[in-house]
Amino acid sequence: KGLRVADKGFLNTAVIQSTITYIDGEAGVLRYRGYPIEQLALHSSHLETAYLLLYGQLPTRDQFRLFEKEVMHHSAVHADAETFFRSFRYDAHPMAMLTSAFAYLGSYYSEANPSLQGQTLYTRSTKAALENMDKQIYRIIGKATTLAAMAYRVRQGRDFVIPPPGLSYTSQFLYLMDHMGQEDYKPSPVLAKALDVLFLLHADHELNASCTTVLQTGSSLVDPYSAVAAGCASLYGPLHGGANEAVIRMLISIGKPENVPAFLDAVKRREKVLSGFGHRVYKTSDPRSFIIRRTADEVFKVAGKDELLETAMALHDAAIKDDFFVSRRLAPNVDFWSGLIYRAMGFPLDFFPVLFAVPRVVGWLAHWRQMMMQQGGVKIWRPRQVYVGAGKRDYVPVEQRE
Ligand code: CMC
Repeated sequence: KGLRVADKGFLNTAVIQSTITYIDGEAGVLRYRGYPIEQLALHSSHLETAYLLLYGQLPTRDQFRLFEKEVMHHSAVHADAETFFRSFRYDAHPMAMLTSAFAYLGSYYSEANPSLQGQTLYTRSTKAALENMDKQIYRIIGKATTLAAMAYRVRQGRDFVIPPPGLSYTSQFLYLMDHMGQEDYKPSPVLAKALDVLFLLHADHELNASCTTVLQTGSSLVDPYSAVAAGCASLYGPLHGGANEAVIRMLISIGKPENVPAFLDAVKRREKVLSGFGHRVYKTSDPRSFIIRRTADEVFKVAGKDELLETAMALHDAAIKDDFFVSRRLAPNVDFWSGLIYRAMGFPLDFFPVLFAVPRVVGWLAHWRQMMMQQGGVKIWRPRQVYVGAGKRDYVPVEQRE
């Protein structure tokens, strides 16, 4: 009662206090726990940044060694997961598989499920509760790459690979996907490093649709596997994590640089969307897009230039000067270039959102952990609506309806 205006799309609603990620959308600034994204991309690694996002400080050498050991130790999945992945249709979208796989994973860990353990499982700040929470976090980050690689291989009708020890997070991920039985196979260090930078850039972006979904789901005190599955479902959409896939489909449909003006005219007539442009928060270029552009050049040196690059550059250069986009402050976002890198690295198109989801589990879990530990406990997220439907009316039997 009394609510008259709905905040459609949550444009003006802050739902939580956070110390994790800072964005200044006007100035194009992104910081994780106070550290500029540019410095982290240059000097840190995805797993070190994961520690930073989760625990608020850069780790000491020993803290990092322990964290990396815990995460990598959890990369193996139960052998029954093979049957699970083989039960999908031959052309199942990898994001549908990954989303289901996280929920499936939760069924193995009853100690993660508050309804089996009593409601205060995560909200108690006891040592045991914190250790339990962190164990689920290590498991989810450790197994995310393995589950993603299984979704990748099952689509190709290939056997699964057991995670080998001694590799970095992204090297192991490349190994799990690309190993085809060669004894001496080693993933390219340049590609593993590029993927690591991309993972770090994608690790968190405060309360985007998927992170909000994770928190909304988690606010019912459900286990984190279910919350992460919900986050994956949200990320799958073309306005969010599916945008990198949509960019490539758009570039393929444009075909060549000469067709760019006609495409932009169609966007202005509202017949098309310029995927990879625009952002709810950034009203200038997304700072991650500059780093990704540089990373793309590194990858192209090893993997060869993507044939769509020229079309992408022509589209980018025309759009950033075009009044339609300038007046609406629509600039390139993180997805404009990332798809071209993934394509050059040989990933299939529908795997691109998975490459967004795997690193983003870190951000989701950092926000989930923060919410669970907040002072005063968790309050279930239950927004209000502005009801504009019919007033009270009486039921009419079917024979009397017109
Ligand atoms: N192409 C054409 N027009 C656009 C675009 C676009 N990419 N983005 C926004 N607009 C127009 C929109 O139609 C509106 O025009 P008008 O004021 O005349 O009605 C104006 O620009 C303002 O946009 P909005 O829809 O109010 O912006 P929003 O904050 O609700 O949406 C967005 C943000 C990211 C969903 C949107 O910009 C979009 O659809 N972009 C394309 C998809 C994309 O690249 N998504 C990835 C986002 S970054 C990574 C991530 O979060 O996953």
